[in-house]
Amino acid sequence: MKQQFTLNSKQHSNENVSLHVAIIMDGNGRWAQQRGRPRFWGHRQGAEVVKKIVEIAPDYGISTLTLYAFSSDNWKRPQQEVNLLMQLLQRKLQTETKNSIKNGVRMSFIGRRDRLDPRLVAEMEKAEQETAHGQKLHLRLAVDYSAREVLARAAQLAAEQNDFSRERFDEYLAKAMHCPVVTPDVDLLIRTGGEQRLSDFLLWECAYAEFYFTNVMWPDFDEDELARAIAVFHSRERRFGAIPQMQVSFG
Ligand code: IPE
Ligand code: IPE
Ligand code: MG
Repeated sequence: MKQQFTLNSKQHSNENVSLHVAIIMDGNGRWAQQRGRPRFWGHRQGAEVVKKIVEIAPDYGISTLTLYAFSSDNWKRPQQEVNLLMQLLQRKLQTETKNSIKNGVRMSFIGRRDRLDPRLVAEMEKAEQETAHGQKLHLRLAVDYSAREVLARAAQLAAEQNDFSRERFDEYLAKAMHCPVVTPDVDLLIRTGGEQRLSDFLLWECAYAEFYFTNVMWPDFDEDELARAIAVFHSRERRFGAIPQMQVSFG
């Protein structure tokens, strides 16, 4: 059954498909605790899954992948967990930037930078510069990210320019989250870990996103799971407020 999903999805991975997929990678802590391990063990495993999913994303027609790595509300967690998460991010950046260059992955970090360790920010900016020419996949990592905060800052930029047009607002949004380019809306939002909520992620960009929720914990997410989500996405009819084509023809 799983294999069937894989085959179907790969058929969609042609030049004409250019998807923006966003993932709320949830369930690391519970996954570890279910195995009698500390929560951080789940985060470490989760980072391995990120590596795998980034590698295979272009095979599924994904051209932009936005991953929720650390929300602005995650600062509320115990200091030790926050520190370990930040260290993990820094270490992965040091090792993965080279791979990203090799694989044509452009990396961007969306979120606030003023509350992060300056050494981490330096590593992030280095990764952004060194991968800026990547054409195969735009990987956006949301770190200290809050959609509401980004929206408020974009509104402030609009007010400063006294320009509230939709086109310009997309530019202000990109600027507010340090994204170098205006990114298309989210096509598919995946959340692992069983919860069915947005937790302040991409509130504007998900206006017409298809949602896919799974009970699978992020450390168990794999290629078959991605294939399943993409296959479900392709089975849905997106109408964007219009009516189905069939009903237009037949009245
Ligand atoms: C998601 O997993 C990763 C981050 C929020 C950093 P969690 O850490 O939220 O894992 P659960 O939801 O507690 O299992
Ligand atoms: C959302 O997960 C944030 C990330 C995955 C980085 P949370 O675990 O923080 O969200 P809530 O608390 O369940 O809403
Ligand atoms: Mg969680």
